[in-house]
Amino acid sequence: MKIGVIGAAGKIGQMRVQTIVDNPATTLAAVLDMEMHKAVAVAHDAPAFTDLDRFFGVEMDAVVISTPAHVREPLCLAAFERGLHVLTEKPLAPTVEGGQRILEAAKSAGRMLGAGFNMRYYPSFAYVKDVVSSGQIGAIDHVRVYGGHDGLGHFTHDWEYQAQYSGGGALWDVGIHMTDMARHILGEITSVYGVSSNRVWNVEGSEDNAVAIFKNPDGIPAIYQASWTDWKGYKSAVEVYGSHGMVRGAYAPMQTLLITLDKPGGKPSKLRNFYPEIMLREKLRSWKSTALLSFAGELEDFLKLVRGQRGVRCADGHAGLRAIEIATAVPESSRTGQPVELENLGDMIV
Ligand SMILES: NC(=O)c1ccc[n+]([C@@H]2O[C@H](COP(=O)([O-])OP(=O)(O)OC[C@H]3O[C@@H](n4cnc5c(N)ncnc54)[C@H](O)[C@@H]3O)[C@@H](O)[C@H]2O)c1
Repeated sequence: MKIGVIGAAGKIGQMRVQTIVDNPATTLAAVLDMEMHKAVAVAHDAPAFTDLDRFFGVEMDAVVISTPAHVREPLCLAAFERGLHVLTEKPLAPTVEGGQRILEAAKSAGRMLGAGFNMRYYPSFAYVKDVVSSGQIGAIDHVRVYGGHDGLGHFTHDWEYQAQYSGGGALWDVGIHMTDMARHILGEITSVYGVSSNRVWNVEGSEDNAVAIFKNPDGIPAIYQASWTDWKGYKSAVEVYGSHGMVRGAYAPMQTLLITLDKPGGKPSKLRNFYPEIMLREKLRSWKSTALLSFAGELEDFLKLVRGQRGVRCADGHAGLRAIEIATAVPESSRTGQPVELENLGDMIV
């Protein structure tokens, strides 16, 4: 498959380019960014552009869009108009309406939209999903998810944290991966009740903190928290509690814990993994080496989604849309004091 990359010179775009070059099933068709010298520097042997029409003049089957969210919609629409499949970074768009237009364009074109929830591929989180699917911890009773860091010091651009570009605060940034993780585990989220606040950083429209309860159509809840005031630094975690045990995955550092019981309240059997090989690799080659592997896995599964396979780990357009609907619903619920009900989207079919 021939794949172009838009926003190729960015921090994430460069990694996306690398995964396409490294994958024997894909060819880097072309790259696009704002400045020619930066685009050329990351193009390997592919043509580099700063002009969208000239970029789309190159034959390709799909594009990865690694730009900030606020410029994504016209790029997605242009790609679907040309009959291309699209894999975008998170968040899909800074508004629900924008996300819906992107999804509609994908469906009218009959092309796949992939949502860049690459944390599904982090070994600790993939482990949690696989353990739950295997039935080892029995019937799921509830889920806990958390994503946080220490806020504004993390950002170098306005678009990363100002709501008119980003959509909002912690819910749209570090938290959105864990919103997706909750949906990934629960199957769907159709009810959102929460409280959000911005008492610390005071950025208009960008919440510092959000706590919420999400429910799937069967009423199974996830307890959710996203934070920009985690003074301990960057952390994300998911825990799933079942009738016959629990499983936890966390990052950073990468860790898992599995407790299984032969019956509720029975003798626990514990299994922990501290991923020493990942710790060592990250010490030598930074966190980016872990992110790169996750993007490589995601690309592999995006190809399967495009070929019509379902049930793969890769997030589709419905996952992308539902995550921003939830990020919008939590502040709405906080304002009204009422839960927000959402329709069951299920998997994206094209
Ligand atoms: N999944 C993850 O782990 C993860 C981590 C960080 C960022 N992200 C997301 O990835 C996206 C990019 O983030 P980043 O940190 O790489 O940002 P970045 O600023 O490093 O890169 C963005 C790139 O897009 C280019 N660009 C902007 N507008 C463009 C346009 N209209 N046409 C072509 N190129 C354009 C910029 O010149 C820049 O090179 C954001 O949506 C961000 O939220 C995802």
